[in-house]
Amino acid sequence: MATMTSLIGLINKIQRACTVLGDHGGEGMSLWEALPSVAVVGGQSSGKSSVLESVVGRDFLPRGSGIVTRRPLVLQLHKTEDGQEYAEFLHLPRKRFTDFAAVRKEIADETDRITGKTKQISNIPIQLSIYSPHVVNLTLIDLPGLTKVAVEGQPDTIVQDIENMVRSYVEKPNCIILAISPANQDIATSDAIKIAREVDPSGERTFGVVTKLDLMDKGTNAVDVLEGRQYRLQHPWVGIVNRSQADINRNVDMIAARRKEREYFETSPEYGHLAHKMGSEYLAKLLSQHLEQVIRQKIPSIIALINKTIDELNAELDRIGRPIAVDSGAQLYTILEMCRAFDKVFKEHLD
Ligand code: GDP
Ligand code: NA
Ligand code: MG
Repeated sequence: MATMTSLIGLINKIQRACTVLGDHGGEGMSLWEALPSVAVVGGQSSGKSSVLESVVGRDFLPRGSGIVTRRPLVLQLHKTEDGQEYAEFLHLPRKRFTDFAAVRKEIADETDRITGKTKQISNIPIQLSIYSPHVVNLTLIDLPGLTKVAVEGQPDTIVQDIENMVRSYVEKPNCIILAISPANQDIATSDAIKIAREVDPSGERTFGVVTKLDLMDKGTNAVDVLEGRQYRLQHPWVGIVNRSQADINRNVDMIAARRKEREYFETSPEYGHLAHKMGSEYLAKLLSQHLEQVIRQKIPSIIALINKTIDELNAELDRIGRPIAVDSGAQLYTILEMCRAFDKVFKEHLD
């Protein structure tokens, strides 16, 4: 079990390194594509960024009504053993953020750097790593929300552009989908479920998440959905109560939000019997367990891929020469070292 944690840590590192080198596909299956990650999908303001924050347990994402998330955010969580907690952006190497409000501001600023202060979107991901004793090792991807119509200042193609961008992430067989549907809208017409069903018809890599349970009309509830009777998925549905806009405006912190969420389920006449299977902390646990299981199944094929990658990296290094400075050669070298470490952990794990 201890090795599994280090395995996920290594996967995070390799994914990150592959991204540095722009290894986004190319020919055949790249390492990046072989490794699992988790993406949130759903309509605009369905609560995607809020759910990601809750899974992480830290406040750092821009949230709010309207189109706030305008570039993909690739977020790697690294569990630290020494109690350290900080964040780092790929575009700001060696700058450690310990103030998560500053992380949020940098995400917003970096979004604007590419798109301007507009309602436009960009496919270029922002890469962020969070190191914390309070997280599980995971790669998470926050995506712009699916919309139905272009608004003022957006090109007519935006609806399709966003859908294509979202699909490019969730169609990868190794992408675990958090399909976010707000409880105050009809699940049957949920954009999240629609796209998840399209790319994952069997539902084996889709987790249905219902947000805004607190905002449902009086006299209605989501028990049928949460118990899997309305739309069947392989994995259990998880209900969530995120912070409301009023909570955000009042700066209600994560600890208070989680406590409120727990209380909501424990004292709810409708969901009390499901309380132990609801909420953000439970979702984080489910995800982590699922990820471990996926990695276990993939061990043989990942080993094969890594061996191939090691050979390719070696050939590439022979071609360009062994690195002496921090350049692409040094980066390649780092990846090679990581692949070797990775391979070693896998082999130990198999024994
Ligand atoms: P995104 O656009 O899908 O990323 O959604 P955000 O996380 O930015 O949330 C959009 C708005 O919905 C914000 O004002 C949140 O406070 C609010 N919101 C999200 N989830 C919930 C929830 O479970 N309950 C309530 N009351 N509000 C929520
Ligand atoms: Na929003
Ligand atoms: Mg968002």
